[in-house]
Amino acid sequence: MDKILSVNLHQVYSMKKATVIGVGNLGSCIAYELAARGIVDELVLIDLYRELAEGNAEDIAQAMAFRSNVEVTAGDYEDAEGSQVVIVTAGKPRTPDMKSRMDLLEANIRIIKSVASNLKKIREEPIVVTLTNPVDVMNYAMWKLTGFDRRRVIGSAGMLDSARFRRAISRKLDVPVLDVEAYVLGEHGDRQVPVFSRVAVKGEKRAFSDEERKEITEEIRQSALNVISKKGGTVYAPASNTVNMIRMILEDVPGLAVCSVVLDGEYGLKDISIGVPVELSREGVKKIFEWKLDEDEKAIFYKGAENLKKVIKTVM
Ligand code: LAC
Repeated sequence: MDKILSVNLHQVYSMKKATVIGVGNLGSCIAYELAARGIVDELVLIDLYRELAEGNAEDIAQAMAFRSNVEVTAGDYEDAEGSQVVIVTAGKPRTPDMKSRMDLLEANIRIIKSVASNLKKIREEPIVVTLTNPVDVMNYAMWKLTGFDRRRVIGSAGMLDSARFRRAISRKLDVPVLDVEAYVLGEHGDRQVPVFSRVAVKGEKRAFSDEERKEITEEIRQSALNVISKKGGTVYAPASNTVNMIRMILEDVPGLAVCSVVLDGEYGLKDISIGVPVELSREGVKKIFEWKLDEDEKAIFYKGAENLKKVIKTVM
């Protein structure tokens, strides 16, 4: 197509295109949900194992045959051109023997460096959504290595942690989960910060005793490992909570989300990616909210930040 006509149809005709890099259980579930919810018109699946990408593309395309004309293909990085969003799950997943997501650091930083070097070549800078663990460190590396605008490099985990927080409160208080408003900030790991001071149930603020806080905090901290030990990995929860965020971006329905974002002074932090409340829109992170945290929440948040800074230094 000559220069004039090589316009990016996806921008001009708001055709929504996403690319998923890494289509194991999690990546293929994200791809399927993006197609099934009609959030994309085109999906490109990339994987080191080309047949896995081809098999998932065909399987998802056949699943949609009575529902939509979504185009699903296996491809390479050049096929990602024109994607508004690129989702990265490539990497080793956590296994039941791993007490921490940091156990994945060495293996996954190598993979993220290779993915980032390929994404850098894409002409129109996409929004990158990173899920590879340890996600805060991997998202920071993605930003540093691609050189993309920090508002367009988003780590997905805070909404997953917040979903677990809501489920735990719903069970504890015996209320419908949709009546619970609760968020988790900070490191996606042992130093995550359930923001008890902002929990509301049916719109009413709800206080928690120290005992309740301790119990719920431990439950959500163990939540991933609990699922991984039973079924080998977490899939639907990270996938669905990530697709909710991608919908805010691709359908430009601005909404509040907790994402791992590279900070540049917010919360008094720089040069680190950590879970904070943001407004997402088609431009990526539209606004970073600096919430007031209570003393306990602040202590854990900054302990997590300190730990992340140390780990980032060892790999970047
Ligand atoms: C989890 C993985 C995605 O928490 O870190 O399920």
